[in-house]
Amino acid sequence: MADDQTGGVHDFFVELFTSPLNCVLLGICGFLLYKIISNRRKDAVPPAPPPLPRMKKRDFTLEQLREFDGKGRDGRLLVAVNGKVFDVTRGKRFYGPDGPYGLFAGRDASRGLATFSLDTENAIRDEYDDLSDLNSMQMDSIREWEMQFTEKYDYVGRLLKPGETPREYSDTEDETDKSKDA
Ligand code: HEM
Repeated sequence: MADDQTGGVHDFFVELFTSPLNCVLLGICGFLLYKIISNRRKDAVPPAPPPLPRMKKRDFTLEQLREFDGKGRDGRLLVAVNGKVFDVTRGKRFYGPDGPYGLFAGRDASRGLATFSLDTENAIRDEYDDLSDLNSMQMDSIREWEMQFTEKYDYVGRLLKPGETPREYSDTEDETDKSKDA
């Protein structure tokens, strides 16, 4: 009797693994099981924090810009390009502390983008950078980057030259360009 049962189980497995159709079905079952388990694992990951509220428009000195390097309490990330400051918080994977372009966080990225350099020595200046030594091709490249940033990120204000006074922005100016919030 016990031998009969063992023989039955043996035959079952022989039948299972020798028939090509069964092997395909087993493969499909295995794949589905894998998808279910891996999706469950994803569900266990806590949801991403809600996006930060839109920043009220204001102008920034270089020093003020540096506060927004993503290491602050709310993790907000700003980057200046061609005198314009953009909120790149949604691009944290690029500009966050571990991102490939993290050196631009809270800084004027214009020189780095124009010269295609990610080396802090050459890409970023500690003092205000008037970019006057760049050639026309490099300046064109900065303007292209500026357009790209304008399309993707919220413009939050201007980068002030030394001695320049910040502008007062009206509430209606803050209301513009809400489309990127969607
Ligand atoms: C040869 C090396 C490089 C490779 C392979 C590379 C690759 C990429 C890729 C694939 C993206 C698009 C990512 C996406 O949209 O998902 C990207 C975006 C970008 N790259 Fe690079 N890159 C390189 C060098 C550089 C350099 C040298 C700079 C600056 C000096 C730079 C600045 C940027 C910026 C600013 C973005 C846009 C990020 C955003 O959308 O906010 N990259 N890069």
